[in-house]
Amino acid sequence: MSTFILTLHILSICLVVGTLFVQSLAVVFRLRLKGPQQITGAQWVQARIYKFIYYPILVVAVASGYYLAIDTGAFSQGKWLHWKIVLLLILVGFGFLNGKQINNKELPKILAMMVHIGIFLVAAAMIYLVVAKPI
Ligand code: HEM
Repeated sequence: MSTFILTLHILSICLVVGTLFVQSLAVVFRLRLKGPQQITGAQWVQARIYKFIYYPILVVAVASGYYLAIDTGAFSQGKWLHWKIVLLLILVGFGFLNGKQINNKELPKILAMMVHIGIFLVAAAMIYLVVAKPI
């Protein structure tokens, strides 16, 4: 296995999961802001993080993961990778919801928290699958 690509993969997945974790928490924090200028400023910063950090690094994470999967023959070594890809789709779905929540000024806090906790749990399950390879 290429250690360079594995390093790139681990770095990029840390950034993907870390960005989503902080972005979803920042949506919860934004609900406490009162001034319209503060709210617009927070939304602007979050939208730029989404566009210039989250999406590009997600592409690197998926491309390096795909390379590793081909390189190691992981697609034919049990079902863990298949379930990891299912969880990846759910994670990307949570990321999409979080992106929508950035611009929603009337967002109920419980929905923002659900996305935040969902991101944490799905990412934890993905990391468990790849480290333990239980199936
Ligand atoms: C954000 C999404 C992802 C997360 C959180 C994630 C997580 C991880 C982690 C933590 C490792 C390091 C395992 C270790 O060396 O102990 C890893 C390795 C790996 N990942 Fe990902 N990954 C993601 C996306 C993908 C995708 C999309 C694919 C394939 C299409 C993939 C395929 C692999 C493969 C084949 C390995 C090497 C596993 C091995 O043989 O030890 N990953 N991933």
